Amino acid sequence: MPRTLLVTGGAGFIGSNFVHYATEHTDARIIVLDKLTYAGNRASLAGLPEDRVTLVEGDIADADLVGRLVADLTGPDDAIVHYAAESHNDNSLSDPSPFLTTNLIGTYTLIEAARRHDVRFHHISTDEVYGDLELDDPQRFTESTPYNPSSPYSSTKAGSDLLVRAWVRSFGLRATISNCSNNYGPRQHVEKFIPRQITNLIDGIRPRLYGAGQNVRDWIHADDHSSAVLAILDRGRIGETYLIGADGEKSNKEVVGLILEAFGRPADDFDHVTDRPGHDLRYAIDSTKLRTELGWTPSFSDFEAGIADTIAWYRDNEDWWRPQKAETEAKYARSGQ
Ligand code: NAD
Ligand code: TYD
Repeated sequence: MPRTLLVTGGAGFIGSNFVHYATEHTDARIIVLDKLTYAGNRASLAGLPEDRVTLVEGDIADADLVGRLVADLTGPDDAIVHYAAESHNDNSLSDPSPFLTTNLIGTYTLIEAARRHDVRFHHISTDEVYGDLELDDPQRFTESTPYNPSSPYSSTKAGSDLLVRAWVRSFGLRATISNCSNNYGPRQHVEKFIPRQITNLIDGIRPRLYGAGQNVRDWIHADDHSSAVLAILDRGRIGETYLIGADGEKSNKEVVGLILEAFGRPADDFDHVTDRPGHDLRYAIDSTKLRTELGWTPSFSDFEAGIADTIAWYRDNEDWWRPQKAETEAKYARSGQ
């Protein structure tokens, strides 16, 4: 019998990518649990087979609802894949409160249900729990890098990771954790760096770079994140953490230069805006463990081609992002960004 996956946050950017990817590459049945916050979008699940994917609108911090959904996961390979989170650093700086409720209490609610019903749990996290690196640091993040988060977002993600680790050790929770680098691809909210600049350019607005644009992010296509999560679900060792990355380091200025080039505009045709307080300088992932232990490799090796596809998606799917654009930009304008 095919497995059932309870995917939290499956109407968000990476969660919906996983639902599409898992539907295409496995025979799993998928229950999406999503609160449909400003970041969740029903339209991100359009076109999926209705007999295999069901959306339940609800909060991961709702213990009764979570208990009922988790109780139904009775197959030997059934699992919870936990993407739901408040995910944007800038929002966490203007109002940390929902980050504590969703990222900490929400994760706690899920792992309590998972341990009660002895259900396999995979926790999706971020490389941002490790803090940042110097531009010339030869060491990248590994599974043994100490936690040193900088923002309300990354500190609540770090806290959620530690809860999962403690539940593994104290209660025997059958869990794995993955910490991934920055994702790009279709269906990412226009508040995030790459979609913001693409949709600005579609609207004839210059891209906005925080500070000097020197900050480095390690970009991975969301499909590669999804294939890594499936590998961990299938072959990962219980209690282990796996870092997911595709050797995609680029400065923000380089990324904006590539996007501008794709729009036929000069590489310096952007505005510098107010920097983010506490802005992490560089993230970089060493994914050797995932590659050697689980045999995973990324398939998107050409970042420029991936960006070109992503630009094409935003050009072709204006109905998806247009409703959020004006409000998102108005919010940025209020903080000088
Ligand atoms: P996103 O903001 O696009 O989506 C989050 C989803 O969670 C939305 O659909 C939202 O409605 C839902 N949600 C929020 N609060 C909820 C709640 N209380 N109950 C139920 N659903 C709720 O985020 P994303 O960028 O897709 O990130 C998904 C996960 O991946 C997060 O855990 C994030 O920390 C992690 N991650 C993101 C990146 C990245 O580059 N975006 C990189 C590494 C890890
Ligand atoms: P973001 O997409 O918010 O991801 P994260 O903060 O989780 O890495 O931002 C990616 C990088 O881009 C980060 O260094 C902040 C920077 N940035 C800009 O320069 N301009 C922007 O308009 C945004 C939204 C982000």
